[in-house]
Amino acid sequence: MLRAALRAGIAFPYECNSGGCGSCQFERVSGDLEELWPQAPGLTPRARERGRQLACQTVPIGDCTLRVRLKPDCQPSLRPTRRRATLVSRTRLTADMAEFSFRAGDPADFLPGQYALLDLPGVAGSRAYSMSNLPNGEGLWQFVIKQIGAGRGGAALFEGLQPGDTIGLDGPYGMAHLRTDNDRDIVCVGGGSGISPLLSILAAAARAPQLASKRLLLFYGGRTPADLCAPALLARDEALARRVECVTAISDPAHAGAWEGQRGFVHQVLQGWLESAGDASRYDYYFCGPPPMTDALLRLLMLGKRVPTAQLHFDRFV
Ligand SMILES: Cc1cc2nc3c(=O)[nH]c(=O)nc-3n(C[C@H](O)[C@H](O)[C@H](O)COP(=O)(O)OP(=O)(O)OC[C@H]3O[C@@H](n4cnc5c(N)ncnc54)[C@H](O)[C@@H]3O)c2cc1C
Ligand code: FES
Repeated sequence: MLRAALRAGIAFPYECNSGGCGSCQFERVSGDLEELWPQAPGLTPRARERGRQLACQTVPIGDCTLRVRLKPDCQPSLRPTRRRATLVSRTRLTADMAEFSFRAGDPADFLPGQYALLDLPGVAGSRAYSMSNLPNGEGLWQFVIKQIGAGRGGAALFEGLQPGDTIGLDGPYGMAHLRTDNDRDIVCVGGGSGISPLLSILAAAARAPQLASKRLLLFYGGRTPADLCAPALLARDEALARRVECVTAISDPAHAGAWEGQRGFVHQVLQGWLESAGDASRYDYYFCGPPPMTDALLRLLMLGKRVPTAQLHFDRFV
């Protein structure tokens, strides 16, 4: 239901497209619907009792009518499309992260910071992954992906899929994309595979003539020094290496070794930096990663620093 609405240009509310956040809830008025994932955590038992359903986990059986409050921010500026894509390469970045490159037969049209839904062999439901490269005419879609525990998507990507294999790729989706319509400096914050969309955002910002005089900052956190892949990824691209000021931090003191850089969670490091950075509202913020990190950043920036919500662009990796 959700993807069909967005393909038709309807501003249907959503965030994760994966059943985890609950923002695509609607009320069925008439018609029959099939639920793809009845246990999806995005719907509380109370919402379920009230007859709510998740548009990202629902397929109409025939004509149906539903009630939902549309959200203008969700109006797709690029309509998502489905395609097949072939795995070209998988490059190991850290013990549990790799960069995946897929090629499709049509141009890779997306806004830097958006994500795609991957349909992986043998995995029920699509998985959301954010593009790490720039939009291009060659049909190249790249993603930095972290393998988490026994996750089924991770297992398919890291262990099952081989170069030459094809998957379903549907996109682009998401609202946490680069804005170039203001003259604020840019602060990106992420940990682990949260670097994926931030790389795309920073690469586009570093090349945007209207942002030529702006500061581009990246705060990147990992558990141990070996998890910090961001500096090497920035060094690969001349524009990123020249323009981006990168601050790295580790959160696990037991594995610090000879590490002499910042320690603590990345939102705490940002908080410390903001103490001497002047008015926090001078920046646009982009952040991606696990919900505890995104929620801590929202508390810091929205409640603590009173940064207007229009300057906060984020994706929770639920
Ligand atoms: C907007 C967004 C962008 C993201 N970008 C990245 C990224 O760039 N890099 C990265 O490493 N991770 C990213 N993630 C996280 C990623 O989508 C996965 O959640 C994570 O990799 C774990 O997936 P898994 O399949 O290995 O684990 P699993 O535990 O098998 O699955 C977890 C994910 O799959 C969904 N899911 C589980 N079962 C079903 C089902 N039956 N039907 C439908 N959905 C189901 C869950 O809602 C959850 O999103 C992103 C998440 C979101 C929401
Ligand atoms: S968009 Fe449907 S639960 Fe997140």
